[in-house]
Amino acid sequence: MSQVENRKVALVTGAASGVGLAVARQLAETGFDLCLVDVDANGLEQAEKQVVELGAKALVQVVDLAVPDACTTVVSATVKAFARLDALCNVAAVMLPGHSTEVSVTAFQTTLAVNLSAPFFLAQAAIPHLLEVDGAIVNVASAVGVTAQAYNAAYCASKAGLIHMTKSLAMEYISQSIRINAVAPGGMMTPLAMNMAALQGADPKIMGRTTPLRGLVEVKDVAEMVVLLATDAGRGYHGACVVIDKGMCAG
Ligand SMILES: NC(=O)c1ccc[n+]([C@@H]2O[C@H](COP(=O)([O-])OP(=O)(O)OC[C@H]3O[C@@H](n4cnc5c(N)ncnc54)[C@H](O)[C@@H]3O)[C@@H](O)[C@H]2O)c1
Repeated sequence: MSQVENRKVALVTGAASGVGLAVARQLAETGFDLCLVDVDANGLEQAEKQVVELGAKALVQVVDLAVPDACTTVVSATVKAFARLDALCNVAAVMLPGHSTEVSVTAFQTTLAVNLSAPFFLAQAAIPHLLEVDGAIVNVASAVGVTAQAYNAAYCASKAGLIHMTKSLAMEYISQSIRINAVAPGGMMTPLAMNMAALQGADPKIMGRTTPLRGLVEVKDVAEMVVLLATDAGRGYHGACVVIDKGMCAG
């Protein structure tokens, strides 16, 4: 792949599906080249076709982000291919809900590894490169990282942790021009959300507290906010957690 000096470059995790794919497509339309990262090889192949059709150069990295070394590797591969990195969009996540007495050690630890540790290790590897170009990190958290949801302790903890990690990193880099923000979406119709729908034996009275009274959030609306925060248009944001939930956390 030839090195491109003047087009901006974004690394998007979770790019095979849902919000990550929508972010990758919108960034391609905005003129970014892309490193597309996911564990789903088939989904990434389709994503690559789509962003290339939109005029982007794409590097595909099929990795399991639960492995810390994989986070370092995808950042170095991006910089090797494109010679720069302007935006890191941490979108990949898993949600493995369950009655808390039945949640396995693997489910709990995988949730923390993919949703919280991977964004940190990716940020750690990306920050030196982002500092060179006044770049941005956008972490996709969740409204249930703000208002907790029953039967979802590991996921809620990972997303609350991600919001606070975003703010901690933002404070650490307050004196530099790199920008670090999070978005916290409400429920969207994607494969990840289906896991909650399949949960057996949930008390509907309790679940009602996180039912979206105004309906689901559109994937493209969340992607638009991620792209805003990843680009110069988001210059006013640093250390923010932008909630996009149609009022779910309002009361
Ligand atoms: N769908 C919702 O209701 C909802 C609500 C709030 C926040 N979110 C957040 O939005 C983001 C995107 O989720 P989505 O709704 O588009 O779901 P999705 O299932 O469509 O996408 C998640 C992607 O992450 C990838 N992924 C999972 N584990 C991985 C791993 N170990 N390594 C690499 N990639 C991995 C999956 O393969 C998938 O492509 C997530 O951070 C999610 O927590 C989703």
